[in-house]
Amino acid sequence: MDFTGRDLVSIRDLSKDDILFILDLAAKAMPVARGDRRSRALDGRILATLFFEPSTRTRLSFETAMQRLGGSVIGFSDASGTSVTKGETLADTVRMAESYADAIVLRHPYEGAAKLAADFSSKPVINAGDGAGQHPTQTLLDLFTIRMEKGEIAENNIVLVGDLKYGRTVHSLSYALSLFGASITLVAPPTLQMPPEVLSHLRETGGRFNQAESLESVIPGADVLYVTRIQKERFPDPEEYRKVEGAFRVDNALLANAKRSLIVMHPLPRVTEIAPEVDSGPHCRYFNQAFYGVPVRMALLSLILGKGEI
Ligand code: NCD
Repeated sequence: MDFTGRDLVSIRDLSKDDILFILDLAAKAMPVARGDRRSRALDGRILATLFFEPSTRTRLSFETAMQRLGGSVIGFSDASGTSVTKGETLADTVRMAESYADAIVLRHPYEGAAKLAADFSSKPVINAGDGAGQHPTQTLLDLFTIRMEKGEIAENNIVLVGDLKYGRTVHSLSYALSLFGASITLVAPPTLQMPPEVLSHLRETGGRFNQAESLESVIPGADVLYVTRIQKERFPDPEEYRKVEGAFRVDNALLANAKRSLIVMHPLPRVTEIAPEVDSGPHCRYFNQAFYGVPVRMALLSLILGKGEI
């Protein structure tokens, strides 16, 4: 399987076999991700991280992944210190980055920005989140988490709850879960339902999914509860945000009706949607999930930029 030089703009750029190949390599990357073994697989390679939106895990885990493989990183985490403030276009910023680095990781507030960057760049572009669009590397680490924590992906009933309209992680994840044949239950306030184009795709591809109104009613049958933050920054009207703020909360009382084996995931950051008391309970996996971003991004970078060795 040859990933050399490929872009990753949408999770739909990858086949099921591609995804499994990446996840298998990520499993092999675990000792290096933990720092127990050293690797020079990407010695001399440079990654540019262009972050036009806030990020903690995505940017830091890309940087850690690159450095654990002996490569190095340039970039910015706040475009206010760059020529963007002088009016430079995204296309020109990308052209500069490709002349300094071997691959570009881009996060941007506008849907479609990663596609535009990939069109302008001859070097591989990895989408680290484009507005309310997609977040494919988050999906890879979400799938890796489910595999590591539940053994396999297909046989699970996976509940996606929260802001399904603006949440890019759940858009990418829905496409992938349907590819794997998992059963999906969508729970969201009426104004934050999954976009019609994602639902049509699930229908057209025979994805197993249903929409439920109450979180309480679906908890007993759930194997994975994937919680998301209401994406405050994407609401055109602050009044609309106030109407759904705090619309749901996962706490120990809710989880009392869950299977013992249920795992709770969240791409993070969380605000109020998961009570801190859940952190120390048997269901919490969101911190493990955040760590898994390192081996998964190592695998991806090694395949795109190197020889697929760790
Ligand atoms: C998510 C994102 O940026 O889409 N965070 C992440 O990458 N782990 C989720 C969010 O911001 O709510």
